Amino acid sequence: MHNVIVSTDIAKGKISRHIYGHFAEHLGRCIYEGIWVGEDSPIPNTKGIRNDVLEALKRIKVPVLRWPGGCFADEYHWKDGVGPRENRKRMVNTHWGGVVENNHFGTHEFMLLCDLLECEPYICGNVGSGTVQEMSEWVEYMTSGGESPMANWRKENGREEPWKLKYFGVGNENWGCGGNMRPEYYADLYRRYQTYVRNYGDNKIYKIAGGANVDDYNWTEVLMKNAGWLMDGLSLHYYTIPGDFWLGKGSALDFEEGEWFITMKKALHIDELITKHSTIMDKYDPEKRVGMIIDEWGTWFDVEPGTNPGFLYQQNTIRDALVAGVHFNIFHKHADRVHMTNIAQTVNVLQAMILTEGEKMILTPTYHVFDMFKVHQDAELLAVDGSIGTYEMGGETLPQVTVSASKDAEGKVHVSLVNIDHQNEAVVSLELRGLQSGTPQVSGTILTADRLNAHNTFEQPNVVAPAAFNGAAVEGGKLNVKLPAMSVVTLAIQ
Ligand code: AHR
Repeated sequence: MHNVIVSTDIAKGKISRHIYGHFAEHLGRCIYEGIWVGEDSPIPNTKGIRNDVLEALKRIKVPVLRWPGGCFADEYHWKDGVGPRENRKRMVNTHWGGVVENNHFGTHEFMLLCDLLECEPYICGNVGSGTVQEMSEWVEYMTSGGESPMANWRKENGREEPWKLKYFGVGNENWGCGGNMRPEYYADLYRRYQTYVRNYGDNKIYKIAGGANVDDYNWTEVLMKNAGWLMDGLSLHYYTIPGDFWLGKGSALDFEEGEWFITMKKALHIDELITKHSTIMDKYDPEKRVGMIIDEWGTWFDVEPGTNPGFLYQQNTIRDALVAGVHFNIFHKHADRVHMTNIAQTVNVLQAMILTEGEKMILTPTYHVFDMFKVHQDAELLAVDGSIGTYEMGGETLPQVTVSASKDAEGKVHVSLVNIDHQNEAVVSLELRGLQSGTPQVSGTILTADRLNAHNTFEQPNVVAPAAFNGAAVEGGKLNVKLPAMSVVTLAIQ
């Protein structure tokens, strides 16, 4: 039995809804086919954007969407993607599969997608191979309302009013695909490029500097020291890879319990990374004004056999669902510094929410976790304390259960629990301190499976699907929760 105290009267700050953000790159079948099918497609669409994907994404309340990359961002020249589609430049997506990019999905199409999803756009600009002028003009094109060359061009292209754009990234992975720079050099470039990312009218840009890879603490140190006061956010990228990035990441479907354990261990590692990068940020920014923006995270496995290695298409199992749940419980804990995260990537790439095959679409186990956890968006984080047991393999131990809790605007408390143990249930005794009413009303949802690689397919789309949870009972003033092996549960308590 694990004893956990949830203090429903101790609020620790807001869990930004942007923690539940997404990332969609011009990579493989994410944008093309996954989101954009074109107006003439037989797949039902709204001005070219497929309706089934749109509806599914609306259900999980996508708060913010990052685009166009990723590595693609530092090769993207936005002017190629505006104006009449038939005239748009065709280019080669050199980074991802060497396929032809026809630029049919550009700024106007992305902004339409965000409008339809009612989410904030987060645009990543090109530092690696683009000019200061090009970046500056992109912001002008999107946000300038008055008379100006770019505003006039936007109007000619059919959009009279400027768009609202808050989040703008100044480059991506500039230590790698975004230019192979040293942090000192990038910090100087950041200072220069961001100067010309202007605020037009009442549009105020939240500027995000390209941050560290995994545990490159020196990158964070140099950026904060040399440019901290010129940024609103600093990014961090961390992928959960059970194997080795270059030698073999491991299969999404064909894995044993040892790989399950390593995957969970690596997912939990994000806690240490956030803590250590935050400590450096605290040194330069003790008020925590600068947000940590974890704008790429999730599982990264070998591509599905027979698929284009440059397309990063992988299946998604109950293991991915647990990885997502573990991340969210950790992100909540660090909500004072973590202002936004963006899972990679929305459709058909890496740890996707949705997989498509022509006109068919399925929801992944990860999608269901986003659905279950959406109750925490913009809710008040509650203090959680107590013991969470151990999950042991080969002499190594991990915490068996992760927990987080929040209170929404209506006063409803939500508790999310993840049992990462692949074979043992966990019984958690929750003491709910500070609840006003007598016996609480409890309902819940569970996502679990009976085998390690349970997943949804186009033939069987509901193998892993949420169900009503009836493993919680009030006994002796406590809420006893029985979590089956490998499960994610969200409880609603009133
Ligand atoms: O998400 C896939 C790729 O991973 C992104 O393009 C890049 O930023 C990262 O290395």
